[in-house]
Amino acid sequence: TSATETYNDDLRLAHVLADSVDAQTMERFKALDLKVETKPDLTPVTDADRAAEEAIRGQLSRSRPRDAVIGEEFGTTGHGARRWIIDPIDGTKNFVRGVPVWATLIALADGDEVVVGVVSAPALGRRWWAARGAGAYTGRSLASATRLKVSNVSSLADASLSYSSLSGWKDRGSLDDFLGLTDSVWRTRAYGDFWSYCLVAEGAVDIATEPDLALYDMAALVPIVTEAGGRFTSLEGEDGPWGGNALATNAILHSEVLARLNPHHDDLL
Ligand code: IPD
Ligand code: CA
Ligand code: CA
Ligand code: CA
Repeated sequence: TSATETYNDDLRLAHVLADSVDAQTMERFKALDLKVETKPDLTPVTDADRAAEEAIRGQLSRSRPRDAVIGEEFGTTGHGARRWIIDPIDGTKNFVRGVPVWATLIALADGDEVVVGVVSAPALGRRWWAARGAGAYTGRSLASATRLKVSNVSSLADASLSYSSLSGWKDRGSLDDFLGLTDSVWRTRAYGDFWSYCLVAEGAVDIATEPDLALYDMAALVPIVTEAGGRFTSLEGEDGPWGGNALATNAILHSEVLARLNPHHDDLL
């Protein structure tokens, strides 16, 4: 991939894909006959999750037949350097309980880099997107875009932190480090799921972190945070995309937060 390559056509396509699933997913969100099943990992999945991924896959097989697709509900199909990474509904637990914080996440990776990300949250009436080298934006559509910029908060004492749940920190054996960090910041809220990271890109939150996150949970969020001027790495400080865990910040606070979450590894700075 050349550094000058642009991904405008792919960004446009990702918006078209989001447009086409938003209506059908919203209809299911409001319906009273949602079919909720439990996956082997005991998390919920609905007919709407599967229908959204199928709709996106159908359109991609027509528009980008040579590209690979990775999705939460139907796994990986195809090969190649260009991979569309789909979370048909991020925030299914919210979706099944009628909480409007859920979104369809659509990303394109070219080689090891995520070059396009679109997060569409129709129940919030919001969309966030980015393409490599072209900035990060929010708005209802490509035509009505506001450019995103992370905050310039430079001390933990003034910082706002958002997370998803505490259980993963316990499993990772670093609950005390995480709670210590929450004691040092100005404010902690569990906005959860995609929302924490979109708020970092907006400059409304300064730190979003999670110990347990799959590739499709984070792929679309990486360019949205980085094109807004933030940093998005693993908890070990590696650049994404990857599956595993995530730390997104306004960049200024990144190394301090990494050090706080890895107190026994002073090589991570
Ligand atoms: C979940 C969300 C959540 C994370 C969970 C994921 P889903 O995704 O991304 O923030 O903590 O690990 O499973 O199942 O609602 O797409
Ligand atoms: Ca799920
Ligand atoms: Ca998810
Ligand atoms: Ca999902």
